[in-house]
Amino acid sequence: MRWIMKWIFNSILVIFFLTAASANAQQSGEVSDAAKKEFSKSCASCHGKDGKGNSGMTKMLKVDISALNLTDDATLNKSDDELIKIMHDGLNKMPAYKGKISDKIIAELAAYIRALK
Ligand code: HEC
Repeated sequence: MRWIMKWIFNSILVIFFLTAASANAQQSGEVSDAAKKEFSKSCASCHGKDGKGNSGMTKMLKVDISALNLTDDATLNKSDDELIKIMHDGLNKMPAYKGKISDKIIAELAAYIRALK
C-alpha cells in the first residue's frame, strides 16, 4: 500500500511542477501583439526595434544614446508606474502618449520594455 501512496504523491508533485512551469511560460508571454505592434509603429523610430536606441536619432534629438536605450538599468530600475507616467506625460524630448495610446496598451508597453532586455 505504501508504494501506491508514494506513487500518488510523486504524481501530484509532477503535475504541480508542470502546472507551475506552464503558468510561468504564460506570464513571460504576457506581452500582447498589440503592444508589440504599437512599439514598432510609435516607439522604434527613436528607441530602436530592439529598444537599445536608434543611434541615427541621437543627433536630431540632441540626446545621448543611453537616453534612448530602454534595456539599460536606468530604465529597468524604474517602477512600472514611473515608466507609465513617462509614456503618459512625456519627458523632455520623449513625446506624451496620453490620449494617443490607450492606458491598457501603455501598461502593456511597460511589460514589453522589460521583456526587451
Ligand atoms: C521622438 C523620439 C521618441 C519617441 C517616438 C518615443 N520616445 Fe521614449 N524617449 C525619448 C527620449 C529622448 C527619452 C529620454 C527622455 C529623458 O530622459 O530626457 C525617452 C524616454 C523614454 C522612457 C523612459 C526611459 C528611462 O530610462 O527613463 C520610456 C519608458 C520611453 N521613452 C518609452 C517610449 C515608448 C513606449 C514609446 C512609444 C509609444 C516612445 N518612448 C516613443 C524619445 C522618444
